[in-house]
Amino acid sequence: MAHTFIMPGLILSGDGAVEQSMDYMPKPPKKALVVTSACNVEYGQVDEITEVLEKEGREYCIFEQVNQEPSDSPVQAGARLYMEEHCGYLIAIGGGSAIDVMKAIGLLVSNPGDITDYAGKKEILNPLPFMAAVPTTAGTGSEATQFTIITDTKRNVKMLIGMKELMPDLVLLIPKLTYTVPREVTVSTGMDALIHALEAFLSKKAQPLTDSLAISAVKRILPNLPRVYSDGTDQSARNEMACAALEAGIAFNNSSVTLIHGMSRPIGALFHVPHGLSNAMLLRECMYFMADSAEDRLAVLSEAVHAAENGMNEKEKTEALLKKLSELCDFCAVPTLEEYGVEKKAFMAQIDKMAEDALASGSPHNLRKTIEKEDIISIYQKLWQEERSS
Ligand SMILES: [Fe+2]
Repeated sequence: MAHTFIMPGLILSGDGAVEQSMDYMPKPPKKALVVTSACNVEYGQVDEITEVLEKEGREYCIFEQVNQEPSDSPVQAGARLYMEEHCGYLIAIGGGSAIDVMKAIGLLVSNPGDITDYAGKKEILNPLPFMAAVPTTAGTGSEATQFTIITDTKRNVKMLIGMKELMPDLVLLIPKLTYTVPREVTVSTGMDALIHALEAFLSKKAQPLTDSLAISAVKRILPNLPRVYSDGTDQSARNEMACAALEAGIAFNNSSVTLIHGMSRPIGALFHVPHGLSNAMLLRECMYFMADSAEDRLAVLSEAVHAAENGMNEKEKTEALLKKLSELCDFCAVPTLEEYGVEKKAFMAQIDKMAEDALASGSPHNLRKTIEKEDIISIYQKLWQEERSS
C-alpha cells in the first residue's frame, strides 16, 4: 500500500512569525474564537497573539475552559460560543488539550451531531473552518496531527478521532512560549514527544520520511530533555525541544503510535494520570516487550544517538539504547503508578477493561509482532513489580 504524508498547511517560525501569520488568517470581518486555558491566559501566552490581532483590527473572543484532559463538555461549550459569537475561524493557544479541543470544536460547528458520533468515523459532510495552532508546550505534537483525543464522559473512554480534515491549516512555532512551562509538565510533554518519535520509528507503518523525522527528534530530545529538566530557563534546549516535538508529531501522524499509547490512554481515562507521564511509566516495559521484533531498527537508532559502541552486535546495541532510555526516566524522576498515588487494588480491578480498551484502540496492532490481551495484562502487572525489566 502506498504511503501518505500529511503536514499542516503552513508552519511559521522565527522572528516576526506572529505578525506574518496575519497574512494567512481569514480576513475581517471574520471573527476568531481563541481556544485556550485559564493558565495560558494568566501566564500571558495568549497576549502574544491577541495583541497582534488587536493591532490588525481583528475581532476575537476567548474560550478559556480547556482543562488538562479534555472531555466532551468543553467541546460542546466551545462550539456553542463559536456559534453565538458568529465566529469564522479558530486559533488554539496552549498544549495538546487546547489544540485537540479546537479541532473538535471545528468539527462540531461545521458538521451535525455530537462529538461522540465521530469516534471511528473517517468521513465527514462539510469542511472545517480555518484552524491555527500555537503550541505552548513541547510535546503532544497535536499541532501537526490529524487526531484529537476527547474523553467520552458517559463511557469513561478516551476517544481517538482521526481524519485528515483535523490537520491545522497553520502552525505558529514560537519556542519562547514554552520557557515558563513548569518542570512536571516539561517532563510529561517531553516524554510524550520522545515516545511519539520512538513509536513512529518502530511502527510497521513507518516510512522513510517518518524515519528521518523520528530519528532527528530522538537525537534532539535525549540530550535536551535532561537540560530543560535541570534548568527550565535553558533557552537553547527549550528551542530544540519545541522543534523535536513538531518533528515527532509529523512523524507519528504519518506512521503511527503503537503499544505505549494504546496502553497509556486507559490509564489516563480511569486514573487521570497526565498523558505523557503514563506513557513514560510504560516506556521501559513496553520497549522490552517490543525489542525482539525490531532489533535491526533499534540498533540503527542506538547508533544515531551514540548509545552503541564499536564492536557491538544488534542485540547489544538495542540493550544500550534501552539502558539510555531507562536512565533518562530515572534522571527525570518519572514516578511509578504507586508513587503517583494510584491505588494498586483499584488498578488491578480495571486491568481487564484497560487491556480490552488498549487493543480496541488499534494502536498495539501497529507493532511488528502480534500481541494478545494476556501480553497487555502482563505488562500492566509488571508496572507494580519492584524488580523491573532492565
Ligand atoms: Fe502522545
